[in-house]
Amino acid sequence: MDIKKSKEEFLELLRSTGRDGVEDLIQGLEEMGFFTAPASANHHLNTEGGLLQHSVNTCKAALMIWEGMKGLEPGLEKEVQKDSVIIASLLHDVCKSDIYIRSVKKKKNALGQWEDSEGYKVSYRNFPMGHGEKSVILLLCNGLEMTDDEMLAIRWHMGAWGINMNSFEDQRSFDTAQKLYPLVSIVQAADKLAASIMERSGEEMDEL
Ligand SMILES: [Fe+2]
Ligand SMILES: [Fe+2]
Repeated sequence: MDIKKSKEEFLELLRSTGRDGVEDLIQGLEEMGFFTAPASANHHLNTEGGLLQHSVNTCKAALMIWEGMKGLEPGLEKEVQKDSVIIASLLHDVCKSDIYIRSVKKKKNALGQWEDSEGYKVSYRNFPMGHGEKSVILLLCNGLEMTDDEMLAIRWHMGAWGINMNSFEDQRSFDTAQKLYPLVSIVQAADKLAASIMERSGEEMDEL
């Protein structure tokens, strides 16, 4: 993975929105460790810069979905702004910036022998606020101006996986957000397509 190139792509996309607060946010992301964090501890992109790569992948997928869906649903052009597609997709997982800590784990090699393997463990102690909701709060606290649909698309990007099924309010809020704002579905689909199609590793495939 070329972290430098991914970071350039990320910054170019983010700055292309011209949004108030972008430069303060970039500074905040540096301090939070966003640009070097992995995207997961054991699954997709579990290496340095993985979160950055996943964010860029999700943004590219979201822009493709947006372009494609405009062909099927012309009204979408007015309903969903390109800047909002970029902001919500690129920043949906900012909550992961501070949860991965480097660690050494025992892992079986191809011969079935245990050996030390450098990896990450997960800790939520820095700011245990949840997932999508944590991203929204961190972005606001770092001075980014956001629209309602961007905040809701980030809050609900996990779709049904992010809903407390014991909470009627959660279920109704998610359903309402999804119906009111197409951006919610665009970011949710892009996140899924990035992780399950663009980021499949050979190692993961071998383990199936
Ligand atoms: Fe996420
Ligand atoms: Fe994601």
